[in-house]
Amino acid sequence: MAGPSQHAHWSSRWTFLLAAVGSAVGLGNIWKFPYEAGEGGGGAFVLIYLAFVFIVGLPVLIAELSMGRRGQLSPIGSMAKIAKEEGRSKLWGLVGWSGVVGGFIVISFYSVVGGWVLAYLLKAPMGFAGYDAALSTQTFGAFITDPVNPIVAHFGFLLITVLIVARGVQGGLEKAVTFLMPALFVLLIGLMLYSAITADFAAALNFLFNPDWGKLNVNTVLQALGLAFFSLSLALGSIMTYGSYLTKDMNIPRSAVTIAAADSGVALLAGLAIFPIVFAYGLNPGQSVGLVFTTLPIAFGQMPGGAIIGTLFFFLLTVAAVTSAISLLEPAVSYVEERTGIDRKKVSVYIAIAAFALGTLSAWGQPGNILGTVKVFGLDFMSLKDYITNNIMMPLGGMFIALFVGWFVSRKNMMDELAMEDGTFKLWYFLVRFVCPVAIGAVFVSIIYNTIIAS
Ligand code: TRP
Repeated sequence: MAGPSQHAHWSSRWTFLLAAVGSAVGLGNIWKFPYEAGEGGGGAFVLIYLAFVFIVGLPVLIAELSMGRRGQLSPIGSMAKIAKEEGRSKLWGLVGWSGVVGGFIVISFYSVVGGWVLAYLLKAPMGFAGYDAALSTQTFGAFITDPVNPIVAHFGFLLITVLIVARGVQGGLEKAVTFLMPALFVLLIGLMLYSAITADFAAALNFLFNPDWGKLNVNTVLQALGLAFFSLSLALGSIMTYGSYLTKDMNIPRSAVTIAAADSGVALLAGLAIFPIVFAYGLNPGQSVGLVFTTLPIAFGQMPGGAIIGTLFFFLLTVAAVTSAISLLEPAVSYVEERTGIDRKKVSVYIAIAAFALGTLSAWGQPGNILGTVKVFGLDFMSLKDYITNNIMMPLGGMFIALFVGWFVSRKNMMDELAMEDGTFKLWYFLVRFVCPVAIGAVFVSIIYNTIIAS
């Protein structure tokens, strides 16, 4: 087993932050947030999501980073080791297990959507001239129902990811994020301004921020909770693994606030770039997974230099997706490496191949594709994997992490690890001990209650 001395570390606070933001910011913000906000009816969903990010997600983010740093092992190893040190049950290692398995399930469909982005990147240099609502919807539909191209793209996306993971934290990852994450941020601001000027910004603002509470129900609340975890990369080991590469001198709470702010900021920017186009062109905000792929090309087709800007956008979105995908693969890779001592390069390749195989179900499971009619619990394969991870494993995993640090690790050890000011520590401690478990528990209890009442 690799001892702590061999465990890799970030070369600076800045590269850690970029990598953590790189993990957090990805398809969750630019692809998932807008379409789920669209399906969830807009403002009320968005506000609940933001509340979950800061009240539940941020405290769990701090908890995960500190557990990773203290454990200095994979999520499974760290959880088991800390539980042992604190005289607690070995079963806490299961939280790490659920993370590693959940991360694997997510990467299997995440890389399918990553492949869609890659395919659009290849299309973008030719421009999207003449794209209107009908043409962009039709183009996207034709692509995802093709039996071959989405699989090839899915493979390509995983290949890029694995090439970076195989080179280890400092070799691959840090380089990818140092320039490209900030560039994405700037480009999104530009796109938002373009949409604001040329399309229906007022309608977008109204949709995203004017809550219609009548549109909320417990299921959309659970969806928003899951999305908060998903977009922050929580509860599936990514953040805990990144925490394990941290050195003691870094300030975890401050970094966590930066990560959460950048993460929700990018989601809102994406929404503000996309929804003006949705409303100006009469697209359906509730159209699900195709939303970003059917809206932005319309804008690229019309703006001056759209071929270049569109290419740049899909390039940076690919980078954002890859930096997230890396962090999804990383927990499983670090666990297998730690347990077996097999070379990291080989492990990365094996796990990527397995993820590719499982991912073909999500690619072919799109409506209209060869497995498009296969439904499990009424869901296609991509939605099914998303539901299991987003709506079950992440909220529950987050709840157990909060319970662990709040009730099973000694208060003094948490204080030493986090080195926060007294007042801030008390607030955080209150959130992880009471607010997070109660909020998550309440959402689950209402779902169960509703299901029983409904049936
Ligand atoms: N947060 C990433 C995104 O928004 C996806 C991601 C990376 C993730 N690591 C994770 C989601 C761990 C859940 C758990 O695209």
